[in-house]
Amino acid sequence: MNLAKRFRWWLLGATMIPAMANVAPVLAREVGAPQDARARATAIVAKMTLDEKIALVHGLFPPKAEGKTRNELIPSAGHIDGIPRLGVPLIRESDASLGVANQVEQRKGDVATALPSGLASAATFDPAIARAGGAMIGAEARAKRFTVLLAGGVNLTRDPWNGRNFEYLGEDPLLAGTMAGAHIAGVQSNGIVSTVKHFALNSQETGRTVVDARIGEAALRMSDLLAFEIAIETGKPGSVMCAYNKVNGDWACENAHLLNDVLKRDWGYRGWVMSDWGAVHSTAKAANAGLDQESGQELDHAIYFAGALKADVAAGRVPMARLDDMVVRYLTGLIETGAYDAPASAAQAIPYDAHAEVAQRAAEAGIVLLKNDGDLLPLARTAKRVLLIGGHADVGVLSGGGSSQVRSVGGAPVEIPLTSGAASSFARVTWHASSPLRAIRAAMPHAQVTWIDGRDPAAAAAAAKAADVAIVFATQWTTEAQDVPDLSLPDRQDDLIAAVAAAQPKTIAVMETGGPVLMPWLSAVPAVVQAWYPGQRGGPAIANILTGRVNPSGRLPITFPANAAQAPRAAPVGLDRLTSSEAQAAADPGHAGEHQLTSFPVSYVEGADVGYRWYEKTRATPLFAFGHGLSYTRFAYRNPVVTGGAKLSIRFEVVNTGKVAGADVPQVYVAREGSPTPMRLAAFRRVTLKPGETTHVTLVAEPRILADYDPALPGWRVAAGRYRVALAHDATDRALVSNVTMAAATMKP
Ligand code: BGC
Repeated sequence: MNLAKRFRWWLLGATMIPAMANVAPVLAREVGAPQDARARATAIVAKMTLDEKIALVHGLFPPKAEGKTRNELIPSAGHIDGIPRLGVPLIRESDASLGVANQVEQRKGDVATALPSGLASAATFDPAIARAGGAMIGAEARAKRFTVLLAGGVNLTRDPWNGRNFEYLGEDPLLAGTMAGAHIAGVQSNGIVSTVKHFALNSQETGRTVVDARIGEAALRMSDLLAFEIAIETGKPGSVMCAYNKVNGDWACENAHLLNDVLKRDWGYRGWVMSDWGAVHSTAKAANAGLDQESGQELDHAIYFAGALKADVAAGRVPMARLDDMVVRYLTGLIETGAYDAPASAAQAIPYDAHAEVAQRAAEAGIVLLKNDGDLLPLARTAKRVLLIGGHADVGVLSGGGSSQVRSVGGAPVEIPLTSGAASSFARVTWHASSPLRAIRAAMPHAQVTWIDGRDPAAAAAAAKAADVAIVFATQWTTEAQDVPDLSLPDRQDDLIAAVAAAQPKTIAVMETGGPVLMPWLSAVPAVVQAWYPGQRGGPAIANILTGRVNPSGRLPITFPANAAQAPRAAPVGLDRLTSSEAQAAADPGHAGEHQLTSFPVSYVEGADVGYRWYEKTRATPLFAFGHGLSYTRFAYRNPVVTGGAKLSIRFEVVNTGKVAGADVPQVYVAREGSPTPMRLAAFRRVTLKPGETTHVTLVAEPRILADYDPALPGWRVAAGRYRVALAHDATDRALVSNVTMAAATMKP
């Protein structure tokens, strides 16, 4: 068996099917007085035959499902036929959070607007930007006839080397949950479903289909689950996608505790649970544990939710009431979001220019100015010879790989194979055609702006010496299905940066990375700009930040370690035990079994003390703290007044003490006095101020951040007593700390 041929389509781009020409039939509609979505769904399900119910709880994977439906299959992630006689619409599903994906160009010529990476959006700390991005990509999804967008990735960053960090929203449950909720609400404002994913603890890609994530109940509720809980409350996604991995011994997609107890009972979730693609392992166990729909069935070992489910229902192993609930939940998610009544059956024109502006605003607001000694940035108008080095900055900006890969608008994306071996067998390394060189030239018409590839550090250093300023573009490609083996920049880019900085004191590093990387050259480089994967307008966004047309305002949603040993796990767990083909198989749904890979545990020893909390707990000083980000102006906080009792609020003034307009993100961290628990982000707000302007801000702490989860209650418990409250510029800033007394309180789980 040629294993490579059987890998997931986007991993190698092996499978492509042409778009078919026939158009979906016009669907009849269930009409009637507005009623509660679940009641309406229940009434529709009451009219269904057993076969009709079964047909709705397993979905096709279009690249492998040719001939399985008479309806048009659009090459994409998923397809579920409708039931025309009852008005149940046909549903098409597409990835993902950064735009309507078109991995390996499975739909020839079909482009979409590419947002910056999730981490870049999270770095804006601005739910309005997350919402605008969601609304924009959701509009494109509908216009391309997709009614479910598999957006809303909110797994917390536990490990800086996770290959999918770029898709997610960082390490803090309040920030990630808030931003995911806003993003989902934006997607769904188009009358389509957004899917929050991957529920839960899909925290590493190494062995993702076999790994068993181990963590205690309280810690889980206070970290990853809290991010989902907040995202679901605020975004109200029609669907939740369960993950590949196991959680405490049970596969996430047949984990009764996660699905039935937490999601459906405790949180009262009304929509449906869809599996990740190839994440189902059983029929009765999964159905009874709360899985409502098997997605992309062709990627599972067997089709569990078709004939096998029918047999289990007939034999009483799955109660008919449970099957009814599965379908009712599916329809409820569609009805509540509007997807049921206005199916996306006709393609529409897309205002790509306006959408590109949305992507650019997000990129500009999410770029983080990490370091700016001597105010080297913005680039002085006097700089005449500006040398750009490396990073293919002549061509475009890097994007992350995997199912979220968007084929962007604005010029054919460029695929440039990696020169370092490790990653080259995975998804295609794609650059959005948004050239920083072109954009900087346009922004600095009086300067001579040139680019060299930087492959020869000595030659680059010599060229840098002859210039007024050198800007090195550093890149680190990351992808779904593979963690980065270590936190160093690949391809000896550290040597390049060090050589350039030694020759040119005015050296700026622009980092296009999936997440944090180590910066051994940092003390020699006066200015560092964290550009993430900045999306299809990354070139102009970077140029605007460098030249000061846009004042940087991003804040890190993730801690940058000073060395790998500071993180709870220095390297991907399990990587050492898998051969490279086993690692590929274990990342690729449906193939772990062929290698007889056994599950292996990852113990999340940090518990709920994820990210910056771990650093405080272990007294480690990171390279750059969570929440950190500089500006071309300065902000001061004045006159904080903290009020306690039943709720904790803090009123204060933010003053722009500098000479240019800018945006700041005041952050509030809390911890109970005398408790060993590190301080936690309890509130934040992005504010924009003119020079000299003052604004009054009141922030209210999220009660579940003040509380601890008590499994014995069960629920959240705020202990009575004194609390420390830091009004801070980042997670390590303790310049303004107040104390306040809180009353005891408990809250339902
Ligand atoms: C990914 C999901 C994605 C799905 C469908 C899976 O491999 O984990 O995030 O939505 O594929 O493409």
